Amino acid sequence: MGNGPAPKMTIPQIVEMKSAGRKISMMTAYDVAFARLVDAAGHGHDPVGDSLGMVMLGYPTTVPVTMDDMIRHASAVSRGAEHAVLVGDMPFGSYQTGRDDAIRNASRFLKEAGMDAVKLEGGHEVVETVRALVENGIAVMGHVGLTPQRVAQFGGFKVQARSADAARQLIDDCVALERAGCFAIVIESVPAAVAALATERVGIPTIGIGAGPDCDGQVLVLHDVLGLFGDFKPKFAKRYADLGPVIVDALRQYDREVKGGTFPDAEHSFSMKDAERAALERALAEPLRPKKVS
Ligand code: KIV
Repeated sequence: MGNGPAPKMTIPQIVEMKSAGRKISMMTAYDVAFARLVDAAGHGHDPVGDSLGMVMLGYPTTVPVTMDDMIRHASAVSRGAEHAVLVGDMPFGSYQTGRDDAIRNASRFLKEAGMDAVKLEGGHEVVETVRALVENGIAVMGHVGLTPQRVAQFGGFKVQARSADAARQLIDDCVALERAGCFAIVIESVPAAVAALATERVGIPTIGIGAGPDCDGQVLVLHDVLGLFGDFKPKFAKRYADLGPVIVDALRQYDREVKGGTFPDAEHSFSMKDAERAALERALAEPLRPKKVS
């Protein structure tokens, strides 16, 4: 057997990784170029996060992101990723207004953007919505802890579930989301011990972001990992490369070469046959012949 392209991952395969004790690594993607690179790196699972509002569109939070923003970016990702399970993040306002809106908007992710599943934020308060989506054939990933769409209620991007009561609520929410049919749950910015206890109590994979090492998988925001989002770096995000300065250097070199006349050189220009060029010069030496208008 040759080394053909890796087959497309499936949601049941992701779920089985928990019982097989295999860690799941997910990376966000927002456009076709990075979706190809994330896919090539072997991440079996790409969420198209509404974090794109901050890292791609320059909003201070994810709240202003619309369904149309999400569909445009998610469909670009699905044109780039061949291997990963793709999850479209339901933006603020797309599922809070009722079951029918949630089903209609989630369906857009599957029909228009080529997503395999959707993700939505919240615990017990979204359980009925999750159930309705799952009953209608839409795979759902949950998201608890620091749910960024509620950043104003939290008073900022703050670690959640630090008290015993709040931690108990978060664990109960994870169990309720599993019972409602979620196939996995993102747990964001909570103490590692709380995420570990939640992970023990559910049969579906937990995916941590700022939730310690004991979740079944991890996810990070691509721009944090690659150093593409200025100097801000959340405590939990490890910067695996610092591409910002590399990109600025490349762009400065281009600027210098254009201004210095060394780009484009012969290698980056198109040539013309000598005979055609000589004929052109002869033609240009003759007086201008106005084109006949018929
Ligand atoms: O918006 C986002 O990028 C997310 C990821 C953490 C999955 O929710």
